Amino acid sequence: RRATVRSAVRVLLTGAAGFIGTRIGAQLSAAGHEVVGVDVMLPAAHGDGAQPPPDVRLLDVRDADAVAEALRGVDVVCHQAAVVGAGVNAADAPSYGSHNDFATTVLLAEMYAAGCRRLVLASSMVVYGQGRYGCPQHGIVDPVPRRRADLDAGVFDHRCPVGDEPVDWVLVDEDAPLRPRSLYAASKVAQEHYALAWAESTGGAVVALRYHNVYGPGMPRDTPYSGVAAIFRSSLEKGDAPKVFEDGGQMRDFVHVDDIAAANVAATAATGAGAAGFDAYNVCSGRPVSILDVASALCDARGGISPAVTGQYRSGDVRHIVADPAKAAQRLGFRAAVDPGTGLREFADAPLRG
Ligand code: UD1
Repeated sequence: RRATVRSAVRVLLTGAAGFIGTRIGAQLSAAGHEVVGVDVMLPAAHGDGAQPPPDVRLLDVRDADAVAEALRGVDVVCHQAAVVGAGVNAADAPSYGSHNDFATTVLLAEMYAAGCRRLVLASSMVVYGQGRYGCPQHGIVDPVPRRRADLDAGVFDHRCPVGDEPVDWVLVDEDAPLRPRSLYAASKVAQEHYALAWAESTGGAVVALRYHNVYGPGMPRDTPYSGVAAIFRSSLEKGDAPKVFEDGGQMRDFVHVDDIAAANVAATAATGAGAAGFDAYNVCSGRPVSILDVASALCDARGGISPAVTGQYRSGDVRHIVADPAKAAQRLGFRAAVDPGTGLREFADAPLRG
């Protein structure tokens, strides 16, 4: 990898002690970059009183003076620090607003002051909201929200707003409208917009990476803020069958954390060499899987247990969201290396964190 990097840079990596940040730090270093890792060690992610690992400094991105100091000599910021999950209830709003939105504005202001003009931003597929759908009769449509009567009757797919036909998922590309539906999604859209405005006014370069469903070794254990991979993995560890909601046909794109890290290395390079402006990319495997497939792959790998398809549903859930990997392949040269079939089987026995 070292040979592929034309110009090594100094990177300020926020969220460096996290599940994703740890792997990004390792790959940036392996690519020959100098990494300044910082993390605020949020108890929700790391447990109460957790200290950062030796190569990571304790830093709150909301602290302008500390950020200014950490930015000395930095060429690129790779901003992974964030409160994650969907938000349990409205009481979580100030936490997303503060750690995600406000911290990003502080970071951008201090980057401006320090003359640092290159940013890689962790974003999420949640910015797209419900995903994209095609009706066999009416083409691409904005589907109507799923009705309780349908869900109760086991009809889980969206319907066409014109003729009420069930609609199929289609790939979501980066031009899809931004439709945040959770506190977390609202904060990710806001981060993207602040970064876009910053790039316009400073001439800076921003690459926002919209991660799809990330999994891999070191993933935090099941919390109220976890996605389904951590939940299934934690059930298996307890010897319980993973509970699959709806009919298990929900489609997602599961992308391995090492591919997320590789995309960040590619994005770091893409902010250099006279790049300017804001650009967003899906980061995904390009190999969609159903939630039942995910549960089955994990169960098969562990042996002796099968998924339980419950038919239950969570009202806020998105039915399908499947990413188009083309833009990242064409413009960043990023293609996921880990096939979800293989990666999920390995994940069944991989160590979790916390
Ligand atoms: C999740 C995160 C989102 C994150 C994104 C990408 C949540 C609530 N959502 O979105 O913040 O940005 O991944 O990493 O954290 N399911 C089951 N059984 C369970 C739990 C879930 O079958 O025990 C199903 C759900 O009904 C849903 C699918 O699995 O259809 C995915 O659920 P989840 O991972 O929570 O949400 P995402 O929409 O994929």
